[in-house]
Amino acid sequence: MPVTLFIKKFLFLIPLIALVLCEKTRFDNYVLYKVLVENDQHYRILVDLKNNNFKYDIWNDHISLGRYVDIMSSPEDKAELEKLFQKYELKYEIANENIQEVIDKENAIIKTYTRSNIRSMEWNAYYTLDHIYGWLDDVAAAYPNVASIVIAGKSYEGRDIKGLKISHGPGRRVIFIESGIHAREWISMTSACYVINELLISNNTQAHAAAQDYDWYIFPVTNPDGYVYSHEQNRLWRKSRRPIGNNFGVDLNRNWNSNWLVVGASTNPQSLTYAGPGPFSEPETRALSNFIRSIGDKIDLYLSVHSFGQYLLVPFGNSTGAYANYYDAVNIGRRAMGALAVRYGTLYQTGNIAEVLYLATGGSDEWVKEHVRVPLVYCVELRDRGLNGFLLPEDEILPNNQEYMDGVLELIYQAERFGYMNSGSRIHISMFILLITFFISFL
Ligand code: ARG
Ligand code: ZN
Repeated sequence: MPVTLFIKKFLFLIPLIALVLCEKTRFDNYVLYKVLVENDQHYRILVDLKNNNFKYDIWNDHISLGRYVDIMSSPEDKAELEKLFQKYELKYEIANENIQEVIDKENAIIKTYTRSNIRSMEWNAYYTLDHIYGWLDDVAAAYPNVASIVIAGKSYEGRDIKGLKISHGPGRRVIFIESGIHAREWISMTSACYVINELLISNNTQAHAAAQDYDWYIFPVTNPDGYVYSHEQNRLWRKSRRPIGNNFGVDLNRNWNSNWLVVGASTNPQSLTYAGPGPFSEPETRALSNFIRSIGDKIDLYLSVHSFGQYLLVPFGNSTGAYANYYDAVNIGRRAMGALAVRYGTLYQTGNIAEVLYLATGGSDEWVKEHVRVPLVYCVELRDRGLNGFLLPEDEILPNNQEYMDGVLELIYQAERFGYMNSGSRIHISMFILLITFFISFL
């Protein structure tokens, strides 16, 4: 048989192979259960399920008494899960019977950003990595004296970990925002872009003042490989994308060198909370931590932004102990969350990670607090409380971002009132005034 004929015979395989290679993970008839944790036994069962059973995706990072837990199951595995619910008398509701439907609907609000038109970014939409990065480049180009692109390093697949620095001059203290370390928490990435928009582009005078008073470092997508994968292949991907045996990815918020693998993290690469083979084993966390350390002594406020649950968390994740300036941090945080609630009545709970959420260590917040000794470090869990979870709908994106910005501005204001955020420029100014008065007194 001639070669061409032979090739032709197998031509039909090409689209098939392409289909297999490019096919997105689908969630047809995947069910989302809301399960109430009523007693200690429930708690233990659910924690065990989260840590040891990789069939189910427990969406919440926290499992706590009296709260609901969101568990997603494939149609094949749901009977077994419901049996477990019945056996242990776990009360449950079905929050959603077909996750794929929600994902399909969300596709309509993934928009494209037109380059060189920074005001055209929409705030009731989601954007892919390229569009977010294009927008960051354009913002830097539009404000050349104030904004500049900073690259912390590269991801495993070679993508930039790109941030924007906003600075109106030297000598200012730093506010650092790290978003999107978990790929599927899409609201976290847009919230970071929104903060940039408020600081520079909008006509929010309070935000503009905050942009003048501090240097800002804002990284909207600190897990770029995971984020791309969540757009192109699997909407509910959480980790990075480095191959580990037959599995992929590390939970980048369990990989930092602080209480690494102590609790709430897994040694199993199949797990959603796989901590990696060692602390800082991943290029993303290494790059980011090196960058943070390089400006560490200037940082006064650090935010690690996630979704969902509506929490403002204070370190540490391994103990409910009130470390360092814990009470100040909580007081400042509670006031800020009060301000956040004013606009739409959205309630956030403020407290220690281990107490409010659950024991979990190796997070960026703990490392920044312990090793860089930043005075105020928070982990923010944005909207919602579990109805839509990671698939936060169109009409909640802008409200989430607006109230979050209110909260951030109040956080700064309260921190200043509590005597934080002033170790830099303000001290220089007061020293200057002191010197002047000193000299004047000699005249
Ligand atoms: N949802 C976040 C996570 O599980 C919360 C992190 C809180 N900080 C921590 N160190 N556990 O990664
Ligand atoms: Zn997260």
